[in-house]
Amino acid sequence: MDINAALDFISSQLMAKKLKTLSTLETTILKEAWKGKDGKSYDEIGNSEYLDGGSVKTAAYKLWQRLSNLCGEKVNRDNVQAVVERYYNKIGLAEATVPINSSLTVNIETIDSEDHRECHQIEITLREKTNWEQKKLFGINTILEQLRDHLQTRDDYWLMSITGAGGIGKTSLTEKLVGEYAADAGFFKLAWTMAKRTYYLEPNMSVKKDNNKKDINTDYMIYDIASQLDINLPPANQDYFLALQRKLTSEPYLIVIDNLETLPEYQKLLARFNPFDPMCNIRPSKVIFTSRKDLKANNCAVREIKLPGIDKSATLEMIRHQGQELDIVKQALDEELEPIYQKTEGNPLMISLVMNLLRIYDDPLLKIFERFEQDQDIQEFLYEESLNSLSDNALLILNLMIKYAAGYLIPSSDLQKPSGLNNDEFRQAITECSQFNLLDSSRSLKDESRYSIHSLLYEFLRRIQDEH
Ligand SMILES: Nc1ncnc2c1ncn2[C@@H]1O[C@H](COP(=O)(O)OP(=O)(O)OP(=O)(O)O)[C@@H](O)[C@H]1O
Ligand SMILES: [Mg+2]
Repeated sequence: MDINAALDFISSQLMAKKLKTLSTLETTILKEAWKGKDGKSYDEIGNSEYLDGGSVKTAAYKLWQRLSNLCGEKVNRDNVQAVVERYYNKIGLAEATVPINSSLTVNIETIDSEDHRECHQIEITLREKTNWEQKKLFGINTILEQLRDHLQTRDDYWLMSITGAGGIGKTSLTEKLVGEYAADAGFFKLAWTMAKRTYYLEPNMSVKKDNNKKDINTDYMIYDIASQLDINLPPANQDYFLALQRKLTSEPYLIVIDNLETLPEYQKLLARFNPFDPMCNIRPSKVIFTSRKDLKANNCAVREIKLPGIDKSATLEMIRHQGQELDIVKQALDEELEPIYQKTEGNPLMISLVMNLLRIYDDPLLKIFERFEQDQDIQEFLYEESLNSLSDNALLILNLMIKYAAGYLIPSSDLQKPSGLNNDEFRQAITECSQFNLLDSSRSLKDESRYSIHSLLYEFLRRIQDEH
């Protein structure tokens, strides 16, 4: 079968199934794959199309997925010709426009081509390291689009930062950005590291979390990034960055460093990646920082977006969503809910905590706010009120959680065992904490649930513990 006949056949099948037809890039990838060994590699196609190899790889991965679903067999670059011909013979020309039985659909989880593994790595890393997709986000579309543009612009600065107050949504927005756009922007591997976590190096160089050590240093962080990206580092610390840089300049990798400001030597790290210095070039890779402190203030060339709180209408939408079960919210007019926006200035974490007050008290909103002393920090007030209403078992769970490093996703059994609670008691305590927005759970169908608490609650509970 020659390539033109194959393209016609595939297009007619896609049209019959009302699926998107082949794009120009997909057609090029198919044509090159059809040539077998003589065909251009993804990088070569990228060069001729003024794209980078990573974008072509991502497009190819999606194309093989589409064709696998169409043909009912796993497709990759090496077998595409054989599979399409087999499929063509199976259904015969006469039936070429008959929609294909959907039972032929291949489960894409089982496609094990090299392209698939690479794209999948981003999703696996996100699931492993973050609470990705666990919560609905409000009022972020405009900023998300801006960030997406920065992410997709390859010849721009290689540093991006998302800054703003604690609880304003930096981590959540970064998770969404990476989950939705990193693969499409051509990144095929992700390293996600939290500056808050503490590590130590064992003699065999494996990195272990250490809850007793307060700080994490730059070399450990680079080591963590390298191991997530499968990059072998040389033995001497001073050569780490060069080895990392060599790899980062060869393929588009994406690195996220969450809460950079908590790293004591963060200026040193910024200097390593300095976009003003050609020696630090990591193009086509990028690093995204989240930080409560503005990084641009360090005279750093970085695409920085400072998050304000979400706007009034997004705040109201969020309140109505979170307060669905509360009559008081259902019956309220928008202007009656507005004081929540004024008080929280659109900080999503604060909004969730205010929702707790509506659950705890029967009083009118303004009366509730009267409890809040003028000189008291609003966040302290909200946490105190929420914690005061918890059962002893729920408090026990939260107190156990701060024995782990901040931001760490704790497996369920690691909490239940030391708590001494039976299954029912444990489940109830967890449900209570989640209903009060004090605990996030990261659930999957195949692994045990993992729980985390927000860094602000972590800091609050630690402070209380230190005071007593
Ligand atoms: N736009 C949003 N809509 C709804 N909920 C949100 C939104 N942004 C964040 N949240 C929720 O608010 C909480 C705080 O968000 P997040 O952890 O992203 O803040 P942060 O800016 O990273 O804080 P920190 O500086 O402490 O790391 C989370 O529970 C998150 O799910
Ligand atoms: Mg955060």
